[in-house]
Amino acid sequence: MKLWGGRFTKETNQLVHNFNESLSFDQKFYHQDIDGSIAHVTMLAKQGIVSNEDKIAIIEGLESIKEDLEEGRLEFTKEHEDIHSFVEANLIARIGEAGKRLHTGRSRNDQVALDMKLYCRDEIDEIDGLIQKLLKVLLGIMEENVDTYMPGFTHLQKAQPITLAHHMGAYFEMFSRDRSRLQDTKNRMNYCPLGSGALAGTTYPLDREYTAQLLGFQGPTLNSMDSVADRDYVIELLSALATISMHLSRFCEEIIIWNTNEYQFVEIDDAYSTGSSIMPQKKNPDIAELVRGKTGRVYGALMSILTTMKGIPLAYNKDMQEDKELTFDAIDTVKGCLALFTGMISTMTFRNDVMENSAKNGFTNATDAADYLVNHGVPFRDAHGIVGQLVLYCIEKEKALDDMTLEEFRAISPVFEDDIYEAISMETCVKKRMTIGAPGQEAMKRVIEIYKGQLED
Ligand code: ARG
Repeated sequence: MKLWGGRFTKETNQLVHNFNESLSFDQKFYHQDIDGSIAHVTMLAKQGIVSNEDKIAIIEGLESIKEDLEEGRLEFTKEHEDIHSFVEANLIARIGEAGKRLHTGRSRNDQVALDMKLYCRDEIDEIDGLIQKLLKVLLGIMEENVDTYMPGFTHLQKAQPITLAHHMGAYFEMFSRDRSRLQDTKNRMNYCPLGSGALAGTTYPLDREYTAQLLGFQGPTLNSMDSVADRDYVIELLSALATISMHLSRFCEEIIIWNTNEYQFVEIDDAYSTGSSIMPQKKNPDIAELVRGKTGRVYGALMSILTTMKGIPLAYNKDMQEDKELTFDAIDTVKGCLALFTGMISTMTFRNDVMENSAKNGFTNATDAADYLVNHGVPFRDAHGIVGQLVLYCIEKEKALDDMTLEEFRAISPVFEDDIYEAISMETCVKKRMTIGAPGQEAMKRVIEIYKGQLED
């Protein structure tokens, strides 16, 4: 059963086998392992290292293993050390002698490096697809809400009026950068390690360029030691996933706040909320909380692999088997979070009236009142002080700036005229902010067009 029984006189201790095995988790990339083997044997035959008949038998055998696994006719059984041993043992059982030639010019070290790369590459595409779906939902919300006013916050204190489209646009930017980070990772990792052997290449006349091409890589890796010892791509991927999680988590935090009784900016759909076993009135934002919470797992995976890799001498060491479980978990976690989050926000109700009301009350137009004075010749620092007095006065009288009479305005500064009301209306405050990137409707519409183009690419 073992790939390496020859030089041993004793059976492996059972606990050692259990501790050492990776089949229980690396079975997750059986598909990639088999695809890699098919490319390898195709290259071996082209180079005359194995015969054409053997190649055909091996490929047929490998395809049948893949099919049987997919149809549930073949199960992963515990006696095998890892996915590589499992596939090879099954191949030999199916096709006999020819199967023993598959591993010519290959080590599990370059094989596992390949499998992990292929797996990460495939998953990057999947995650990218999920982010695109989220971006489409965000763009839809943006298109419908260029005129929906809401307060923008700093320090979680009302700051200046913005629009819902503008707020969603901030997340559109974050998730777009996430896509480009994933793409960078994919481009950088897209070199094929196969043919590096255990660490020093092989003596066979392999055509590494050809194998790389068969598997959709840019080319072969250029140093066989690095090829089997490199897990940078796992670290980069986990770092990109950690950043996605951080973005989702911030968004969830806002939604949780917006969904509170105190804010009521949004209402999470019943289908995405849960109740309390004791308090009948409760409707809790558990999904947003869980997505926020799962960020910890993803950060943990990144920290774990960084720490594992930091003391490993060249080239392959078994420590590196630890790259898999947490990476798989982080990938599945982020995919789950993206899908659930997208479902949650696409069914969520935005309470536009509440958001607009909140923007009106809270002196979000105070900066614009100061700008009004500046436009009438008052130095900004003085204007800031005057509006500070206005705010103090309004707090005392429990009213908004807009509700002050002109006499009240003029009692604090004679510079104010009738046009102050227009200058500090929420519509004006937003509309006047029309440089690219600002919430003004014209600027926002231009940005939305750019985003549409990005999603079409
Ligand atoms: N299961 C191993 C891993 O995940 C495969 C490579 C084993 N190579 C070796 N020389 N023991 O890293």
